[in-house]
Amino acid sequence: MTTTPSDGRPPVWRRLLFPAVVAVIAIGAAVATLAYLRPGSSDAIASIGGPFTLTTQTGAKLSDTDLKGKPFGVFFGFTHCPEVCPTTLTEMTQSLKELGPEADNLKLLFISVDPTRDTPEFLSLYLQSFDPRIVGLTGTEAEIAAVGKEYRAFWEKVPLADGDYTMNHTATIFLMDAKGRFTGTIAYGEDVKTRVAKLKRLVVGSA
Ligand code: NI
Repeated sequence: MTTTPSDGRPPVWRRLLFPAVVAVIAIGAAVATLAYLRPGSSDAIASIGGPFTLTTQTGAKLSDTDLKGKPFGVFFGFTHCPEVCPTTLTEMTQSLKELGPEADNLKLLFISVDPTRDTPEFLSLYLQSFDPRIVGLTGTEAEIAAVGKEYRAFWEKVPLADGDYTMNHTATIFLMDAKGRFTGTIAYGEDVKTRVAKLKRLVVGSA
């Protein structure tokens, strides 16, 4: 005995359930994002960012205090990323090139959310294809989780059919001024003019 209709399709409520759940999650995420990016919610904005000490692709330690007096961008990702990370790093390389020496004080921190695979050596090889102002950072799971929390960044491990895994992660670049204060974001896929203008404003405002 089955309640499945004779055409073999699942009942209506089942066909509607998945899209409904996806919609609820999407709306929830949008509301949460707006809540903390809303100009009025200055407390939440002021609290984006914070102290950290991580390991660069050369094996050196880098702390937020080392960046005092210099503006920086923070981006979370991983070297095995099939699309979002290489696209973002390519776009940022182009933007930094466009800004030229004017942006020599600007650093873009690429913080790995996959420290198991992203050793300093691996980050070093990977980042050779991109602008040297992009600094790769890795650390222990706990160190990276703490930084992610400070920036309200999200990521999760997603198992793949072949036994491998990938990572879903926040694709936003967080822009921080020379005093380490959050000033805005660059969204994934934002057009080149806007991106360069935002970086330029960050550099000029921090001079
Ligand atoms: Ni990625």
